[in-house]
Amino acid sequence: MSGRVLVTGGAGYIGSHTAQQLIDAGNDVVILDNLSNGDRSMAPDGARFVQGDLADRGLLDDILGSGVDAVLHFAGSIVVPDSVADPLGYYRNNTLNTHGLLQACIERGVDRFIFSSTATVYGDPASTPLRETDPTQPISPYATSKLMSEWMLRDTAAAHGLRYVVLRYFNVAGADLKGRRGQASRNATHLIKLAVEVLTGQRDRLSIFGDDYPTSDGTGVRDYIHVTDLANAHVRTLDHLMAGGASEVMNCGYGKGSTVRQVIAALECVANRRIPTEVAPRRPGDVAELVADVSRIREVLGWRPEHDDLELIVRTALDWERKRIRAS
Ligand SMILES: NC(=O)c1ccc[n+]([C@@H]2O[C@H](COP(=O)([O-])OP(=O)(O)OC[C@H]3O[C@@H](n4cnc5c(N)ncnc54)[C@H](O)[C@@H]3O)[C@@H](O)[C@H]2O)c1
Repeated sequence: MSGRVLVTGGAGYIGSHTAQQLIDAGNDVVILDNLSNGDRSMAPDGARFVQGDLADRGLLDDILGSGVDAVLHFAGSIVVPDSVADPLGYYRNNTLNTHGLLQACIERGVDRFIFSSTATVYGDPASTPLRETDPTQPISPYATSKLMSEWMLRDTAAAHGLRYVVLRYFNVAGADLKGRRGQASRNATHLIKLAVEVLTGQRDRLSIFGDDYPTSDGTGVRDYIHVTDLANAHVRTLDHLMAGGASEVMNCGYGKGSTVRQVIAALECVANRRIPTEVAPRRPGDVAELVADVSRIREVLGWRPEHDDLELIVRTALDWERKRIRAS
């Protein structure tokens, strides 16, 4: 079922992949992005692109007043260590701006909302895989700013009849299989992005932050999900809401983890080259293991991943980075 949708942050990594799939599924897509971390060329051609800030209430009113059926809200600040240094900046961009967007939705009668949340809301869990009903204990301002937005959504939905889906992403990685887009974020801190920067000569070596975690090889375990599968989960989520489906909170991952060393080994295999590494101290806010229980999203949406393959994830990320470097 198609409609007219606002995609905030649609020039960013995940938003741009999702906007493309939404267009391919027949939706009419408007993108709002201030390009603080996005790239205009990542936004798909078939979308209407508006360069502007979430904090611009007049702009939001104009866009939402033009007959928008649903909002997919990706825009935000995403670097955990930066949020520790600048908590108020993160609460402003992630929490206050979500508040403003929700307010505008209520006033303009837009009553379907999909929100990009994060596995970091679970904090340092006692055990994995994580279910949506497990306790949330954010340990960074970034994670807290996202959890506060989840709570605002829950309460706004109860008061105003809005229906929403919170998608808690685990580690999003890889790039479009046709090579049209990938991760272009400045100052990214994601392992695979940093590793492909080493392989393309933009960095000397890769830091492994902690090799003394209680995991199989001492390095952190994460649940990596290919961005194309995640984008597809959004298209299905939109269908769910358009068909009258109920509000939900759902994990997005594959339900299995890889260690930092396993990811590096997969990339070395694909690139046929060693990646110089150094072991550095654990980073504040990092935890040993984050792996999703994905039964809820499978049950509610019937979602099944198509690219559950670490080698494919790292290969598409490397191909994209090589293409990006050649073009710059
Ligand atoms: N990448 C991951 O692994 C991951 C994991 C969990 C959650 N998330 C969440 O997913 C969402 C998208 O992440 P991403 O990796 O694509 O990040 P990204 O930085 O590539 O995309 C975010 C986009 O939002 C835009 N933006 C930021 N503030 C804005 C504002 N005030 N007004 C308008 N546009 C603004 C940026 O320019 C950027 O294009 C974020 O909300 C992030 O917290 C990402």
